[in-house]
Amino acid sequence: MFFKNGIRSGVFRLIILITYIFNLTFVQAFYPCSGERYLSAGSAFKVESKNSKYAAQFVNINDALSKQALQGQATAKSSTKNVEVPVKPGMSILSTDSNTQAYFVNVTIGDEIYPLVVDSGSAYLWVYGSSCTSKSCTSNKLFSTDNVKRAADESTFSLIYSSGTASGDVYEDRIIVNKLATTQNFTFGVANEVPDIFENYPVSGIFGLPSNNSDNIESIISVLSESNAISMEKFSLIIGALNSKDNTTSEDSALQAPLTENKGLFIIGDLVEDLYTGDIHYASLITNENHYWQLKIDSVYVNSQAVNFSTSEAVTGSQSSYIRSGIVDSGTTLLILPTQDALDLHTFFVNSVSDGTNFAIPCNSTEILSLEINGVKWPISSEEYLGEAYPQDSYYYGYCVSNIQGLELDESWILGAVFLKDKYAVFDVQNQQFGLANKNENAILVPYVNSATNSSDTISGDRSSTTISASNLPATSTAASSSTSKSGSTSFGLGSTIKPQSFMSWVATLILLAF
Ligand SMILES: *[C@@H]1O[C@H](CO)[C@@H](O)[C@H](O)[C@H]1NC(C)=O
Ligand SMILES: *[C@@H]1O[C@H](CO)[C@@H](O)[C@H](O)[C@H]1NC(C)=O
Ligand SMILES: *[C@@H]1O[C@H](CO)[C@@H](O)[C@H](O)[C@H]1NC(C)=O
Ligand SMILES: *[C@@H]1O[C@H](CO)[C@@H](O)[C@H](O)[C@H]1NC(C)=O
Ligand SMILES: *[C@@H]1O[C@H](CO)[C@@H](O)[C@H](O)[C@H]1NC(C)=O
Ligand SMILES: *[C@@H]1O[C@H](CO)[C@@H](O)[C@H](O)[C@H]1NC(C)=O
Ligand SMILES: *[C@@H]1O[C@H](CO)[C@@H](O)[C@H](O)[C@H]1NC(C)=O
Repeated sequence: MFFKNGIRSGVFRLIILITYIFNLTFVQAFYPCSGERYLSAGSAFKVESKNSKYAAQFVNINDALSKQALQGQATAKSSTKNVEVPVKPGMSILSTDSNTQAYFVNVTIGDEIYPLVVDSGSAYLWVYGSSCTSKSCTSNKLFSTDNVKRAADESTFSLIYSSGTASGDVYEDRIIVNKLATTQNFTFGVANEVPDIFENYPVSGIFGLPSNNSDNIESIISVLSESNAISMEKFSLIIGALNSKDNTTSEDSALQAPLTENKGLFIIGDLVEDLYTGDIHYASLITNENHYWQLKIDSVYVNSQAVNFSTSEAVTGSQSSYIRSGIVDSGTTLLILPTQDALDLHTFFVNSVSDGTNFAIPCNSTEILSLEINGVKWPISSEEYLGEAYPQDSYYYGYCVSNIQGLELDESWILGAVFLKDKYAVFDVQNQQFGLANKNENAILVPYVNSATNSSDTISGDRSSTTISASNLPATSTAASSSTSKSGSTSFGLGSTIKPQSFMSWVATLILLAF
């Protein structure tokens, strides 16, 4: 607990700044401005202006390299043999909204099930409370605090988004994620105010997954590990659908969607080896106070060419125009870059156009973007970085919205679902590292059947017949320490639309705590 002298005891405010869900809308035309505005002079590029309306076109003269294989790229050791993977306790199906922007999971709080956004970009778990009257609370399931205990110190929480505030009281209860249960005193936020922007998503809150524990925040992963519900203090995510054999989960269809509807998996505890191929390549986290999964990107490539950015950043001691840092955020849909980096990067995509913030790339582009992390290049194919196509009657017919977005950010990139897609990502709290492997395309999810258990039991990950009892679990403390922050972007979108495209970003920065 962290209470300074003179602070009203038992009251704290947890303020989390979150870049909100950006509604990205596209305009009739991109700025008709000169190429120089977006291009740093450099031998790698020339600007081609076939058409004055396409003045910001970029041409990569190294296009000829596009067919070259990436050196050192992680390669899939794929076998052709299918392997069935039972969806065991601790493994939860991910669902998405209809636009595939948010990935969420069912979580049991008390006796009820709530869909929560799996968010590695924020550190706090909170749900919509039944006293919430905000628009976002009208169409989603609300958490009733009847018979639920307030946190002993009567804490309140407040999360500040650029579009509004989520705030409420801190309660404690048992939280179960597909049969892995905490003790009864796990603390979480119950919001009575939720920003309107959440309205569009069929969720009841945010499942924040911090990279680290501190006085005020304890990861549910660490809590489950301390009670021996899981043997390893880590979780994994597969974003993107896996093959599956059956569309029921037999005994727990009330909790999980049919396997055939999976849009990925959230796995608490041990790694599931059959779900990836090759080795897991780890990178240490960059020390930060926001509990981010932040890591160093050694270099960024488009095809085989390293991107020399026009600004130089200091990341873990090295000042470089090649090195960047990235925050791995399952709660963000796209790849979000500081504006200048986004401009620099898009110059490597042949004929891409920009208005300075938003980008469009020809839909037939084949360049491979890759991020080198701790010596291994992780590719992001055109399938991932190309978003929605402009319609036939549009001026930009033939172009697709770029899933790489510029934003007024501090130097760190936000590596959202576009980056994580179809990889096996390991979030290792214990060793303060992040790992990646290729997803096993031959894995087939099948229902988990264990006659020794009852669907109502809460059991541990790999000791499937035991029931977890409330042992000596430390609850997450609700007091707080201060930390630094940056402010989120406040505006986005470009006015009139041809075809609206949106994405969301739920990166949270803890800024301020005890009052
Ligand atoms: C999937 O579910 C539907 C309806 O719930 C059922 O008709 C169908 O037989 C199921 N398919 C499989 C492969 O289980
Ligand atoms: C959550 O549970 C509900 C039933 O309570 C089910 O309809 C839904 O598909 C489940 N969602 C996920 C992500 O498992
Ligand atoms: C996690 O917390 C420990 C203890 O406060 C600290 O030493 C470490 O640097 C933190 N890790 C990161 C990635 O910030
Ligand atoms: C990268 O860019 C910087 C400044 O823009 C320049 O000084 C440096 O020579 C460039 N490096 C290479 C290898 O082109
Ligand atoms: C994409 O289409 C344009 C226009 O049809 C064509 O000029 C260009 O060569 C194509 N690019 C690729 C990589 O196929
Ligand atoms: C499941 O639980 C019920 C009630 O607790 C019990 O009667 C039943 O025998 C259990 N079934 C199994 C397979 O353990
Ligand atoms: C939470 O509950 C467990 C067991 O019920 C207990 O050992 C632990 O001290 C509690 N933690 C707090 C902070 O109250």
